[in-house]
Formats: sequence, C-alpha cells, structure tokens
Amino acid sequence: MIYSEKVMDHFANPRNVGEIPDADGVGEVGNAKCGDIMKMYIKVNDGIITDVKFKTFGCGAAVATSSMATELIKGKPIEEALKLTNKAVIEALDGLPAVKLHCSVLAEQAMKAALADYYRRQGVDPALIIGDLSAPDTCEI
Ligand code: FES
Repeated sequence: MIYSEKVMDHFANPRNVGEIPDADGVGEVGNAKCGDIMKMYIKVNDGIITDVKFKTFGCGAAVATSSMATELIKGKPIEEALKLTNKAVIEALDGLPAVKLHCSVLAEQAMKAALADYYRRQGVDPALIIGDLSAPDTCEI
C-alpha cells in the first residue's frame, strides 16, 4: 500500500492531538466498517473555530485525515467547517489508497458531531443546520 508523503507526515507528526477540557462542542463517532473510534473537541468564539483537538483509537489513515481536517478548520468560520468533506481532506493529503477511503469519513463525522454538539449547547437544533448526522459507512468518493 502506497501512502503519500503528506499522509506519512500527518501520521508520524499528527497536528492537534489531545483534548480541550472546556470545549464548546465534543463529538464522538465510530466507524461501522472497522470499529475504530474518533473524538473531536472544538472551541468557538464569535462563530470562529479558535481551537480544535482530536483523539482516536484508529488506524494511521484515520490519524492523518483527522490531523489534516483539524488543520483545515482551525481559525475558520463554522460555516466553512461545515462544508469540509472527507473528499477535500483526502485531496489535501494528496490521496489515500482506495481501501482506506472509509477512514476519512471518521474525521468528517467527528467534526460534524462536535459542531452539532456546539449548536445543541447554544439551544439550536443541529439538524436544521447540519442535516442528517448519521454516519455513512462508505465514503463519498
Ligand atoms: Fe478504521 Fe481506518 S481502519 S478508521
């Protein structure tokens, strides 16, 4: 299996690993295909994601995609984070082997679950903004 240099870099030196104790939103999801688990924490100020961290019991591709996803949404408005797809994360990593594409879904779903939690805490129904949060077990590519 060939991984891109970017995937290897984000796997070996993952960005934003950890937890945020006073997070404004926390999302935890599991991958139906492999049983791996991902937890993501976000801090929001004035509609901007000021900090994001993740922890995973997952494979190298899950670590790399989550690392890249957190880098892509950190410092961005929530609306932009909501538009981030696993496809965009894979592109930013210069691709993933086909058998590992499903791993990238974990990062996208954890991020959306954290955003949904944030909206819930604000008293807003996340379904109105994010839509269906049920995790697909296949990726969109
Ligand atoms: Fe489970 Fe990659 S094999 S997330």
